[in-house]
Amino acid sequence: MLHERARQLAGESAFDVLRRAQELEAAGQEIIHLEIGQPDFPTPDHVKEAAVQALADGHTGYGPSQGLPELRAAIAEKAGALRGLEFSPDQVVVAPGAKALLFYTINALAGPGDEVIYPDPGFPAYQSVIAHSGARAVPLPLREETGFRFDTDEFRALVSDRTRLVILNSPQNPTGGVLELEDLEAVAAAAAEHDITILSDEIYLHFCYDSPFETIASVENADGRTIIVDGFSKTYSMTGWRLGFAILPPALVETFDLYNVNIASCACTFSQHAAVEALRGPQDSVLAMVSEFRQRRDFLVDALNGIRGISCAPPGGAFYAFANITGTGMSSDDLATKLLVEAGVAVLSGASFGSSGEGYIRLSYATSMEKLGAAIARLEGLLGKTR
Ligand SMILES: Cc1ncc(COP(=O)(O)O)c(C=O)c1O
Repeated sequence: MLHERARQLAGESAFDVLRRAQELEAAGQEIIHLEIGQPDFPTPDHVKEAAVQALADGHTGYGPSQGLPELRAAIAEKAGALRGLEFSPDQVVVAPGAKALLFYTINALAGPGDEVIYPDPGFPAYQSVIAHSGARAVPLPLREETGFRFDTDEFRALVSDRTRLVILNSPQNPTGGVLELEDLEAVAAAAAEHDITILSDEIYLHFCYDSPFETIASVENADGRTIIVDGFSKTYSMTGWRLGFAILPPALVETFDLYNVNIASCACTFSQHAAVEALRGPQDSVLAMVSEFRQRRDFLVDALNGIRGISCAPPGGAFYAFANITGTGMSSDDLATKLLVEAGVAVLSGASFGSSGEGYIRLSYATSMEKLGAAIARLEGLLGKTR
């Protein structure tokens, strides 16, 4: 009954594991959740208050499909300042989540006969949506030895006359890796040479612990061919508000707007009013969260390195530890299942992020120190300690 295209869609292990963990909880087991990628901090009060005010003011109807003008202006200003670039509000399209914009980008730019290069391991929606578009998904392996960056020679070898789009994500989900300038330059040069568009998924830009954030959009040759995707989910703990945005080369704006018109009409209007406050109001909650995440990262990485069979390099960004588990002798899937069922710790198998993720598990540290400490004690109990 289904079209072949629809058969290509794949799920996301974070939601699968969450469901399994909740079933175990319903059966009485106490689970520590390190599987889901959302900050444990609440949405800041001033943002919630702005949403309540927007509801009281009657902002409950459809809005302009491209996004509220005042939100697009705030995004252009703030996103430009963060990246040291100038954006026009006309380049901004607001949508119900960054995920929607990933879908628009891949479908607007690639189809049967085309190739799209994407990071492996990587956010599962990339591979799934590329396959759905009919294009060929070309995985670009990320390597632990280089802090989960890619090898630039390997990248160049994957580029062909059919490459239409290259997807970058830095800081990265699931590895926490951060790309360096030479990586961005290699992609920008190849993109200019082969007329390739770049999709830069920058949703974790605030979560950079060791070096300042750098966008490929500011690299020579990438200007004019880069689509920046970002959103409110992670930075402002607004995952449920469903709000993301893209900053686009002007020629693509109308098409992205049409995707909105055909799929969602517009992003939630009162969420957009609250998002203006998120961008223009005080930023101390973002700074406090990032500082807390840095401490958790340091604790978790150190503790993981004391567990038998596990080693973990410090991730430079995002809020995930991607731990090497080859020393346990188990596959990623088997270990993730064992940790959930026998220790009550929900983590994700690295293999669920692509074949280069085999040999790893992803642990989200977007949870309290207390819970991280308890999770480590359970892992030590199951696998043993080395110190
Ligand atoms: C790399 C990456 N991009 C996009 C998203 C989705 O963001 P949103 O909630 O805005 O759809 C996520 C969420 O986990 C992510 O990890």
